[in-house]
Amino acid sequence: MTFLPSLAVKQDKPSFRILKEEELIVRLDIKEEIGIVTWDDKPRLSVAGVQDKLNVFIDAQGNIGFGDGPLCSTHIVKFEKRNCPNLVLNEFFCMKLSSVIGLPTAEVEFRRFGTHPSLVVKRFDRKYIADANKVMRRHVIDGNQALNLPRDYKYERNLGNSRDVQHIRDGASLVKLFEFTNKMSSPIQSKQWLIHWQLFNLMISNYDSHGKNISLFFDKKNTQFTPAYDLVNIALFPQFKQALAMAMGDEFDPNDIHAYQLADFAETCGIEKKLLSRLLIQLANDVIKQLSTGDLIDNLATQPHFTDNDISYFQQLSHNILTKTEYLKTQASQIPSIEV
Ligand SMILES: Nc1ncnc2c1ncn2[C@@H]1O[C@H](COP(=O)(O)OP(=O)(O)O)[C@@H](O)[C@H]1O
Ligand SMILES: [Mg+2]
Repeated sequence: MTFLPSLAVKQDKPSFRILKEEELIVRLDIKEEIGIVTWDDKPRLSVAGVQDKLNVFIDAQGNIGFGDGPLCSTHIVKFEKRNCPNLVLNEFFCMKLSSVIGLPTAEVEFRRFGTHPSLVVKRFDRKYIADANKVMRRHVIDGNQALNLPRDYKYERNLGNSRDVQHIRDGASLVKLFEFTNKMSSPIQSKQWLIHWQLFNLMISNYDSHGKNISLFFDKKNTQFTPAYDLVNIALFPQFKQALAMAMGDEFDPNDIHAYQLADFAETCGIEKKLLSRLLIQLANDVIKQLSTGDLIDNLATQPHFTDNDISYFQQLSHNILTKTEYLKTQASQIPSIEV
């Protein structure tokens, strides 16, 4: 694993501007009007993506703030917009589920600032060396960069889903990503990672798994997928687009993924159908085991920051994921015999 010193060295000396909890709460209270990017009249580099978020350094004592010089950010803190209640809880739960069933997943913590829920995401491309008081970085590229596609090609239907342009599919796709795995350090492992990523996205209804919601560690010696991130159950947000970012075969409708579309996915992406069937059953069993026993929620319920409302939201989410996963599992045995 290669971590390099921070490139963004505007100054040699480390500086750390602590963000006090009360100060952050005040800003979050007026976030919708003012935004949260500018602090002390300086724009704090915002991370790409759609949710409101801050790039922060968190020190050994747990203080949050802005690092400069050799102290670049180690965490991303994501907040939710007023029109997307429960988004943070949703993402937190999906990330935890991914992690407990053993998929490589970015580490997350749930935190409330005043009434504002937030997801504290540990950056997998940064590492704090306490002895030297500096942050090392590891080079990462996203799916679009790997595929040599411009940033606005993150959806396979790069011009959108409306009827006149939906046949244009020049954006990031599963077919292109699977083809790319042949150039990665361990093609077989990478393919398996990608199959797991996609199957899990289907189980949790993370329709927004586009070319910039997948990344790779990329250096001279090594090209491999980073842990998963930005996992959200979109089915529980009717205000979001209910279409898959990348097709399964030719299917973009998440409610139309059955054995045939799974077989088509295997065929178009060069995956053995028997392998897909086997991995689907295994992964489904892992998800079903976690959710049907209620272990994950019971565990979360012991954490003091979750309210009764939060827990009942987790239950609703868990039910949604369980239903979808059980359905996908029923399709698995038919996949190998389907001729596309
Ligand atoms: N754990 C992480 N480590 C490093 N980079 C990350 C991590 N999580 C997300 N990113 C980067 O930050 C971007 C925005 O994060 P994301 O969770 O996708 O936010 P949004 O919900 O706004 O799309 C991602 O596209 C990715 O490039
Ligand atoms: Mg994203």
